[in-house]
Amino acid sequence: MINVLFVCLGNICRSPLAEAIFKDHVKRRGLSSQISADSCGTSNYHIGENPDPRSVQSAHNHGIPISHKGRQLAITDFEDFDYILPMDAANLRDTIARMQQARDPKADVRLMREFDAQGKGEDVPDPYYGGEQGFENVYQMLDRSCSALLDHILAQHQLGA
Ligand code: 4NP
Repeated sequence: MINVLFVCLGNICRSPLAEAIFKDHVKRRGLSSQISADSCGTSNYHIGENPDPRSVQSAHNHGIPISHKGRQLAITDFEDFDYILPMDAANLRDTIARMQQARDPKADVRLMREFDAQGKGEDVPDPYYGGEQGFENVYQMLDRSCSALLDHILAQHQLGA
């Protein structure tokens, strides 16, 4: 199994939406038995909570299921996951700082929008204090990034699409 982890600050807005979108791409390509996805936050602010209602609405607007309980990034995640995708520069910095404590890290850690042709290397902006449009904007960048990320993983592992 190839394991993919999406990381944001609170694990209620961006990363659970990324997880849901990525899983949908994986499912539509018939790869659910080979690639799994999860999400977490660098903070402990929302442990055990459901995704923000605006992320849930955004997923439903696009016809995809979303279900997650907030959890915090753990040291063991660097041993358990093959790919770790922080959403913005602060999430990346915090993720790499935590990776220094892992005993045998195997994860390939990359900023999510390294995979977005429209804004490569930019942040997925935190939509928490914004409105609905912020979530649609985030949805679109996550959708583009997830598609390209999956292409990258398939190429690296020589898996057919
Ligand atoms: P997320 O958004 O990192 O995309 O889940 C946030 C959610 C909550 C908070 C910040 C960002 N907060 O400060 O509680």
